Amino acid sequence: MAKVSLRKVNKIYGSGASAVHAVQDLDLEIENGEFVALLGPSGCGKTSTLRMIVGLEAITSGDIYFGERRVSDLDPQDRNVAMAFETYALYPNFTVERNLTFPLEVRGVPEAERKRKAMQIAELLRITPILGELPGALSGGQQQRVSLGRALIREPSVFILDEVMSHLDAHLKFQMLFDLKRLHQELGRTMVYVTHDQVEALALADRVAVMSSARLQQVGDRNALYNRPANVFVADFIGEPPTNFFRAEAQANGDGLVLRTEDSDLTFALAPERAAALQGGRRVIVGLRPQNLTLSAVERPLAAEVLINEYLGERAILTLKNGATRFRALVPPDTGLKRGDPVRLGYDPRDVMIFDAETEALLG
Ligand SMILES: Nc1ncnc2c1ncn2[C@@H]1O[C@H](COP(=O)(O)OP(=O)(O)O)[C@@H](O)[C@H]1O
Ligand SMILES: [Mg+2]
Repeated sequence: MAKVSLRKVNKIYGSGASAVHAVQDLDLEIENGEFVALLGPSGCGKTSTLRMIVGLEAITSGDIYFGERRVSDLDPQDRNVAMAFETYALYPNFTVERNLTFPLEVRGVPEAERKRKAMQIAELLRITPILGELPGALSGGQQQRVSLGRALIREPSVFILDEVMSHLDAHLKFQMLFDLKRLHQELGRTMVYVTHDQVEALALADRVAVMSSARLQQVGDRNALYNRPANVFVADFIGEPPTNFFRAEAQANGDGLVLRTEDSDLTFALAPERAAALQGGRRVIVGLRPQNLTLSAVERPLAAEVLINEYLGERAILTLKNGATRFRALVPPDTGLKRGDPVRLGYDPRDVMIFDAETEALLG
């Protein structure tokens, strides 16, 4: 087992005008036995990062350590990392059992030992009844399990999964999420799970590393990412429906400050602990989650007009308008509100997130 440390890791593909800086100055520590998700939109550098950890891609600059050991120049087979991909790539003419044990066969592990390992892994992944089948006879979920099993059978010290669920349907996904979490608990391996899906990342991982445009944006648990997003990108990417943003300016109001929006007549109160970071005239971006707007508070200072009321089972999403600004609120489904209705919404000033208008970094 191993702790994985990435230190100022860069990956540049190609050179000159056509160079692509796929990973930029990435610093990340994954503790021994930890389950970390690498989360970000397509093209942000997740797979490139994984391939450098595994050793399938050369590092342009920086270093990777497993524990105290620098592995940057080691071949993949000397790193003891296993990777499972989105595509299963099973051998179609081998049974499930032989697909599982093939990595051991290649290493000359004796048959009895291979058999023992296959039974053990099959038990863990609940595929014992299909050990004799050919891949063509299996469902997508079963093939995915065999592929995971084949990666696990070598008992890697680091186990990496790249978008392994992106083409499973919702039901299978749910089952796999559960199984992966259990697998991690039972094996205690260092695991890195890559996805563009925040639900998967937040459901599985101890900590989530959010990437965008080749750069690490924030590493944290659900609470940190949700309640203290490092910047506008993270606040926008984490949470569903996405955070509402309002361009605003801090203005003096009596003894304190308020945040007056630019494109509407909405004004936000500041929690005292946030006000300390601001002076009058400071231009900011206000972030407020749709979950944190309410129709039921006593004080409802935000006036708006209903544009859309979308029912989503136990909740409804109101799309609202004030001036040129559109924003959303998550409300109970039985409000009966329709297009054109005026509403007033309340919020807790402690839920108001404030970002610098230029750098988009969280303030206070
Ligand atoms: N072998 C390659 N040659 C050139 N560019 C690449 C190569 N692999 C990836 N890229 C580019 O590097 C960036 C990051 O890609 P990738 O690491 O695959 O992102 P992700 O896995 O987050 O979707 C993208 O712009 C992609 O087009
Ligand atoms: Mg990828």
